[in-house]
Amino acid sequence: MILNGRETAQKIKNDLKREVEELKNRIKKVPTLAVIQVGDDPASQIYVNSKIKQCSEVGIESKAYIYPITITEEEILAKIEELNRDKTVNGILVQLPLPKHIDEMKVIDKIALEKDVDGFKPENIGLLFLNREEVLLPCTPAGIMRLFKEYSIELEGKDIVVIGRSNIVGKPLSLLLINSGATVTVCNSKTKNLKEKTKSADIVIVAVGKANFLTEDMVKDGVIVVDVGINRDGKKICGDVDFETVSKKSSYITPVPGGVGPMTIALLLENTVKSFKNIERIKGE
Ligand code: GUN
Repeated sequence: MILNGRETAQKIKNDLKREVEELKNRIKKVPTLAVIQVGDDPASQIYVNSKIKQCSEVGIESKAYIYPITITEEEILAKIEELNRDKTVNGILVQLPLPKHIDEMKVIDKIALEKDVDGFKPENIGLLFLNREEVLLPCTPAGIMRLFKEYSIELEGKDIVVIGRSNIVGKPLSLLLINSGATVTVCNSKTKNLKEKTKSADIVIVAVGKANFLTEDMVKDGVIVVDVGINRDGKKICGDVDFETVSKKSSYITPVPGGVGPMTIALLLENTVKSFKNIERIKGE
């Protein structure tokens, strides 16, 4: 069975659209997201365009700042400082990766905590570690957790293998899964006997960025598979999972496209509304 991210994301966006409309009527302001992109990496361009387009679908204002790869670190930090002070902006997202001459950590550190809609700041990661409710969660891990919830997939007691240990996906997702009572094994591209580990897992989550990385022989019958990869195969987009064969063995699987990707954006929009309400001190959902 397909874990349909596109459909689930649409439901989230329908709810957000109603909420944004209601906020607009009530306080005469709308949530506003600033998006910064450096360079013209095709993948980043696609993500940023999609984020901007989907903001407008739910009534969130957006401001895009697209800079050439030659921009200096100082100039980016100065722009963030300006957006931190801008009272009409409640969310700031800097699309990653950044070019080598710009220090990602410095950039993330510069973003005001209450505007950290990516949930990348050390304070938000700390709140996630402690399983506290007031956290802004990183969007891809939060989107995956929402998919599990939507399909009533119980995580407590499950053996889950996460392949990938990035700050954006693997590490925060592992914390969320641990907080849900799962037994989590975090692997990476250097893990020895990876197949042995994935083969005994109830759920396998792959975020390595290599097409056809997870193959049928690596999973057990009835496995649940979540594919975070976005790779280009000629003109086609494909994930990290050999979908053709692995889907035949799995009880649930996310497709690419239409799985995790749309969920990431839906959760970004949700975080943008959440940070708006935090800043405006509006209680409740
Ligand atoms: N690059 C890949 N995924 C993400 C994300 O969730 N947020 C940002 N800012 N950059 C990314």
